[in-house]
Amino acid sequence: MKTYRIALVPGDGIGKEVISAGREVLQALAGTANTFQFEFTHFDWGGDYYRRHGAMMPPDGLDALRGMDAILFGSAGDPEIPDHVTLWGLRLKICQGLDQYANVRPTRILPGIDAPLKRCKPEDLNWVIVRENTEGEYSGAGGRVHQGHPIEVATDMSVMTRAGVERIQRYAFRLAQSRPRKLLTVITKSNAQRHAMVMWDEIAAEVAKDFPDVTWDKELVDAATARMVNRPSSLDTIVATNLHADILSDLAAALAGSLGIAPTGNINPERVYPSMFEPIHGSAFDIMGKGLANPVGTFWSVVMLLEHLGEIHAAQRVMCAIEHVTANPELHTRDLGGEATTAQVTQAVCAEIRSAGKPGQAPSLA
Ligand code: IPM
Ligand code: MG
Repeated sequence: MKTYRIALVPGDGIGKEVISAGREVLQALAGTANTFQFEFTHFDWGGDYYRRHGAMMPPDGLDALRGMDAILFGSAGDPEIPDHVTLWGLRLKICQGLDQYANVRPTRILPGIDAPLKRCKPEDLNWVIVRENTEGEYSGAGGRVHQGHPIEVATDMSVMTRAGVERIQRYAFRLAQSRPRKLLTVITKSNAQRHAMVMWDEIAAEVAKDFPDVTWDKELVDAATARMVNRPSSLDTIVATNLHADILSDLAAALAGSLGIAPTGNINPERVYPSMFEPIHGSAFDIMGKGLANPVGTFWSVVMLLEHLGEIHAAQRVMCAIEHVTANPELHTRDLGGEATTAQVTQAVCAEIRSAGKPGQAPSLA
């Protein structure tokens, strides 16, 4: 029997609620599997840790994660701590420190979800956004001088390296190649950003030569927003810089029905370091502690985690359970216009997993 070591980093806000739900689902799954089990290690990093220790995670925190098979992450953010402190002190520290350079964001309209585009059928929207995750606009390079004086200067530098751009383009082409449509759109802004983005375009054209079976095109990031709304079926795999993909992926999640559903994987493709999986919704202080958070974004992230571990059959079982549950409007949380609680959705997904294969056992409110 294989044992997967999973790090749980709930972080802040609703992260705590959804990660404990994610753990329940993994446990339900392990209970029905006889080839693998999970060993969980819980890390209490985040805003509360910061109040006690003056840092979001310990200085040697990355070492504790290195030996794990995967990380399940909730969110970083606290109403009392500036956002850039929580983000850089935890999530970005992990992504950069463990070289998780490919941020992968699948988007689909799941069964039962009332998506806002009136002319878009579920089969018209099936995207994977690949976000560069370690450099670009989030490189962290920059600074402030003469603070508070009229001559104050502040810079955030977007840094693109040939190595960084090439590896993310290559990852995206490979992913596009593995999907049925073999279709990739490279997002750019090389009309205005005339140095790094021009290099980005050039590298895409070079990498494309190694993938003759992938059809690819280029789209300016502003035009891409309109295309996502007007011609969703013209897109499949999408690759973009850190900030461009950040923005496009929120639009993607909203077009698919709710940010509460959207998952992501921060992947180190070479597997030198563990990869990290998380819902994209953030800490949502307004609903934290109320049991209203939608755990589906975490469950879908669990599916990505299982795929990454190579447990494809188990991943499919969890995805199937999620889709059975979203298909029932009684099991929709508030973000989807329903009244179900985090616990009810979690119980329903766990019940689906346990009864998989037994026909006629539709999930219902517990
Ligand atoms: C995301 C989030 C983060 C980001 C926030 C929380 C800083 O929006 O994962 O997309 O911009 O990277
Ligand atoms: Mg975002």
